[in-house]
Amino acid sequence: MTHNSRIAHPGLRQKIMSADAAAALIHHGDNVGMSGFTGAGHPKALPQALAHRIEKANQDGGHFRIGVWTGASTAPELDGALAKVGGIEMRLPYQSDPTCRDRINKGEMDYIDIHLSHVAQFVWFGFLGKLSVAVVEVAGILEDGRLIPSSSVGNNKTWLDQADKVILEVNSMQPLGLEGMHDIYYGTDLPPNRKPIPMTGPGDRIGTPYLHVDLDKVVAVVETSQPDRNTTFTPPDENSQRIAGHILDFLGHEVKKGRLPANLLPLQSGVGNIANAVLSGLNQGPFNNLTGYTEVLQDGMLEMLKSGKLSMASSTALSLSVEGMKEFLDNLDFYRQRIVLRPQEISNHPELVRRLGIISMNGMIEADIYGNVNSTHLMGTRIMNGIGGSGDFARNAYLSIFMTPSVAKDGRISCIVPMASHVDHTEHDVQVLVTEQGLADLRGLAPRQRATVVIERCAHPDYRPALRDYVARAESAARNGHGGMQTPHILDEALSWHSRFEREGRMLAQD
Ligand code: COA
Repeated sequence: MTHNSRIAHPGLRQKIMSADAAAALIHHGDNVGMSGFTGAGHPKALPQALAHRIEKANQDGGHFRIGVWTGASTAPELDGALAKVGGIEMRLPYQSDPTCRDRINKGEMDYIDIHLSHVAQFVWFGFLGKLSVAVVEVAGILEDGRLIPSSSVGNNKTWLDQADKVILEVNSMQPLGLEGMHDIYYGTDLPPNRKPIPMTGPGDRIGTPYLHVDLDKVVAVVETSQPDRNTTFTPPDENSQRIAGHILDFLGHEVKKGRLPANLLPLQSGVGNIANAVLSGLNQGPFNNLTGYTEVLQDGMLEMLKSGKLSMASSTALSLSVEGMKEFLDNLDFYRQRIVLRPQEISNHPELVRRLGIISMNGMIEADIYGNVNSTHLMGTRIMNGIGGSGDFARNAYLSIFMTPSVAKDGRISCIVPMASHVDHTEHDVQVLVTEQGLADLRGLAPRQRATVVIERCAHPDYRPALRDYVARAESAARNGHGGMQTPHILDEALSWHSRFEREGRMLAQD
């Protein structure tokens, strides 16, 4: 099949041009909405052409920087290329690129870390300013101009609707068999005219398989043939397996208690290796006929679909390894019947997360003894990735679970600390904490009860004495009139573990 046959609309065929020519249509100060979510479905050629243009303009003494809005993280050829040439003024809503991260942490680039479900509506509300250009990868264009979405949906519907100008990348590496897998919901509206979203099960299809675009706005069509980012997963290590084991035991206990049905409730699983390991554990575990309602579908869920443990999964993106992608492509008809790809405003919608009763499982950087969770900032100041969808799910989930190894950096950091150095998920949104040491079920516990359970179940034994000592002294100070007993703290000391790490490279003083 030639590339051109993917562009069946005659008018849009007239707009085919090189990535360089299309990049010339983007100007300094533009906000550019790009497709892409966890390394899937991002434009491949235009961002690199734009990076060259920006580099040249700035070398010639100009000042060329743009705002980059996406679904979530992209890949080196988008975030990496643009950040490398200093071309990004402001980035939102989630990134995980090392060059981007470095620029943000050096103060050379602004970053607004937004809940993923908020982005589309904030653009519709006008809260983020004008969207100048949409750059959206698609798998093909039908004769009537409807678009076959790519391997992620993300915010593409909103970018296409809201941007003044649209540039389409038609990627012949994206399988045409994706057609029919998507469900693009066009029923959202602005308050006060919003209606309930008509979904009661994770597999419900409530929209259309195609994206719509006002053809007059399309200024360029660029042909590409490049794969998505190769996401790699390490085989589950001992810590991940132990975390997965604790979660499986807990879910089994909840079924026995009658608080979960035998096939559980729809699963949301976050990014990274631990999340993937938990899914591997579930794939070997006793639960059957499971469902997924998540934002990113990694290898673990694909394996569960293949084994039949998972009957269907809803997501906004695929994020597969090379092997996972091969399995997906080899059996596309099988997976098309079992996977629904939706806009991220729907995959992460609080109304739906609450209604469906999601079991939400996400990684974290650290938690404090009272159950506040930091998902985003190293030592309180340096961004790692971003909050992603973890807040969309955690606050509204049936069960919100956060997990991490108990220590980092060869034990020099405790991931259970007296006070979280940055809070993404407050104690009110966190029900269960898990480390390889054990699982803390915080439901129905008051703060001081929580502290005991978190320390005894989740903290590494090397840090338990110091944490117990901190709590004892904080309570004693409160009893003596220095602070309150609801959430006892020694304010001068609460973040001293972090400041010691910054000074001495370890959280606890050496004996
Ligand atoms: N303090 C400082 N550094 C820490 C730390 C802590 N408490 N805990 C971990 N780190 C360091 C690790 O040493 C590692 O450093 P390195 O990159 O130099 O090796 C780095 O942080 C990442 O740790 P790792 O354990 O490999 O992280 P991960 O891949 O399991 O990801 C998060 C954990 C929290 C970064 C990741 O889950 C995330 O970005 N979450 C937020 C978004 C989210 O939840 N999305 C899902 C919603 S669907």
